[in-house]
Amino acid sequence: MLRGKFIVLEGGEGSGKDTQVDRLKERYAGDDSIVFTREPGGTGMGEKIRSLLLSPDSKDMTVRTELLLFLAARAQLVEQVIHPALEAGKTVISNRFALSTIAYQIYGRDRHEYLPLLQEVGEFVMNNCTPDAYLVLDVTPEVGLERVAKRNDGLTRFDAETLGFHRRVREGYLKHAAIGRYHKVISADVSLGEVSKRVDEEVAYILGT
Ligand code: TMP
Repeated sequence: MLRGKFIVLEGGEGSGKDTQVDRLKERYAGDDSIVFTREPGGTGMGEKIRSLLLSPDSKDMTVRTELLLFLAARAQLVEQVIHPALEAGKTVISNRFALSTIAYQIYGRDRHEYLPLLQEVGEFVMNNCTPDAYLVLDVTPEVGLERVAKRNDGLTRFDAETLGFHRRVREGYLKHAAIGRYHKVISADVSLGEVSKRVDEEVAYILGT
């Protein structure tokens, strides 16, 4: 039985998820009982896999390869970071986790036939580290993509996908948000301040603080 709490922030491109995670990091700065991480990445190996996955140069990557690389990065993160932290009673807050794979690879890539395989391999990869809570920042794709374009810091392979792809990702999020023990869908079309207030309230509720 793992003692710590595992909270995941999720959302489509331009949902403001990274900003919200940064705000939580500031809010809990100096609190050693909270470990922040991200997916894909969060380990040396995972960050290398992340570069490969996000690079526009990886345009030949097949969907099978993409799916397995996300799972490989997750396996490394779970074993190296998440499982030890939860076992030690720490709280883990991750920027993305398994719900992203359902939203992007199953829905975005339109590979519904891979869902049973993902569920089976996912259990092996997660090794009992099932999130206690998923907070999904729900953004209308048109709004999110406009924010991404304004950031002007280069597009990843996923940012550059079609509007149809991002609409399917959103559908996946909304249909599967309940895979964790607790979930909340928070509208991210509103201001960062409003989203931040909701996220803070939810995290405090989940942590019982
Ligand atoms: P981000 O950290 O900037 O959100 O970039 C990660 C990208 O990877 C994002 O476009 C979503 C995508 N992704 C998947 O397609 N599947 C996954 O399982 C995960 C974790 C991320």
